[in-house]
Amino acid sequence: MPPCAYCSLNGCCIHIMEQKFELLRSKIAEAKLGGGQKRIDAQHKKGKLTARERIHFLMDPGSFEEIGALVTHRATDFGMADQQFLGDGVVTGYGTVNGRLVYVFAQDFTVFGGSLSETHAEKICKVMDLAVRNGAPMIGLNDSGGARIQEGVNSLGGYADIFYRNVQASGVIPQISAILGPCAGGAVYSPAMTDFIVMVEGSSYMFVTGPNVVKTVTNEEVSSEELGGASTHASKSGVTHLVATNDVDCIEKVKRLLSYIPQNCEDQAPRLDYTLGDEYRDELMHIIPENANHPYDMKEVIAGIVDTDSFFEIHESYAENIVVGFARLAGRSIGIVANQPMNLAGVLDVNSSKKAARFVRFCDCFNIPLLVLVDVPGFLPGTDQEWNAIITNGSKLLYAFSEATVPRITVITRKAYGGAYDVMNSKHIGADMNYAWPGAEIAVMGAKGASEIIFKHEIDAAADPAAKLAEKEKEYGDTFANPYRAAARGFIDEVILPRETRRKLIKSFAMLENKAVARAKRKHGNVPL
Ligand code: HXC
Repeated sequence: MPPCAYCSLNGCCIHIMEQKFELLRSKIAEAKLGGGQKRIDAQHKKGKLTARERIHFLMDPGSFEEIGALVTHRATDFGMADQQFLGDGVVTGYGTVNGRLVYVFAQDFTVFGGSLSETHAEKICKVMDLAVRNGAPMIGLNDSGGARIQEGVNSLGGYADIFYRNVQASGVIPQISAILGPCAGGAVYSPAMTDFIVMVEGSSYMFVTGPNVVKTVTNEEVSSEELGGASTHASKSGVTHLVATNDVDCIEKVKRLLSYIPQNCEDQAPRLDYTLGDEYRDELMHIIPENANHPYDMKEVIAGIVDTDSFFEIHESYAENIVVGFARLAGRSIGIVANQPMNLAGVLDVNSSKKAARFVRFCDCFNIPLLVLVDVPGFLPGTDQEWNAIITNGSKLLYAFSEATVPRITVITRKAYGGAYDVMNSKHIGADMNYAWPGAEIAVMGAKGASEIIFKHEIDAAADPAAKLAEKEKEYGDTFANPYRAAARGFIDEVILPRETRRKLIKSFAMLENKAVARAKRKHGNVPL
């Protein structure tokens, strides 16, 4: 028997337990070092935090409990048996964020580039299963070179095990993905199936195949940043919902997002204390321009309605003709969908329909009431839109609103024309309360376009066609370009002054708080994908 490390006695039996404790401590210390100090330094040099540092910034102090710190991989090919790192490239566990339970995995780029082995996948699956069983959000901090190349199909199987769980968890618990480094190959599909993706500008990228493969297959020369950087995915593809300036900002954004959403599909979002005061907002009286063809910023309307500084925009740089995001109304979390007249006159097109539909479906999954602000001239015409399936994509939004059972309130601030009137949370597709401002124009189309069609012969035959058109335009406008026809039919519940909008919404969302809708039994609907 070797001499005791504590008293140097051969065969000492007093300090046996001390030695066992010490072994555990040294293993934990080894696990905390991941792939070693040199690789940690390299990570820092790139301006990135390590997996453990990220968890430190995410969780409430002292709340994180690790699971599986001593896991090692089982691979033996390519000398892998001799390359073991405790934890196998991913830190997993649970803790609290602002006092609420969350589960987390953080890939450790210092261990085989955060690549996913069979055991690495098993660790992620274990916390995903716990998150679903215990009804708490799952947060993935991704930084991975994809499938662990030395493991072949074992690693592919590991990815599929995670994908399967992403889908089973979808709509049951919120799933949020932070992308904090490269995410290639399989590493992109799991985040894509979660509810929200946050990417870091300049240090994260996502693509199915990197620039080298792109060059070989398509002969295109493209940088990693251009192909799959944060700006690309924020503005061109819409893959990412939020962009952060660095790792800490990314984690702050994840925390802010969590503050608006409930723990699971049976829970309600956290509510902040709020004392009702004077809820009239006079600034809303002056936002809409007198000329109906002039733009205004719908975000000013949102700011005038919701609790101060509470609007948290999602997908800010993608399909800017529609605005979506979370906010609070008298301390209560709501989701907002709003046409943006500042961009493409707020028209609905392929991308804006997809963006809004996904947001509506998220809110409906997690009991977040919806406020819809409407100023929409219709669907965007043209070959580009038709060939990119505006029919299918526009119907995604129609479908999403129609199937949503959360409290849904609409305010028409100005135009609500054509099919877009129906789609934008009209009474006919199940909205609970529909308001309009006095300048609202609810019609099949604008007065000019309508007059040109239905009065064509009269205008052509007139001595002064321009004057005739103006006369007919006024006649059509006086008849239809107002909210009163719709109000007379009950399609609009009330025409309200802009300044009373916030007060009305607070009262009507409170009135709808116990809304319950029974749906016909079915497996699931067939949303037009
Ligand atoms: C094993 C990997 C690895 C991988 C990186 N490493 N990727 N080990 N499997 N997939 C290791 C490197 O050997 C290196 O080890 C360390 O991680 C850091 O990698 P570097 O290349 O030095 O870092 P960097 O220059 O920052 O480049 C990062 C990278 C690059 C862009 C991620 O490593 C890369 O392109 N990796 C391969 C990406 C890929 O093709 N993955 C497979 C995708 S296929 P040392 O010992 O030096 O620290 C896939 C299929 C799944 O995922 C499909 C499911 C649907």
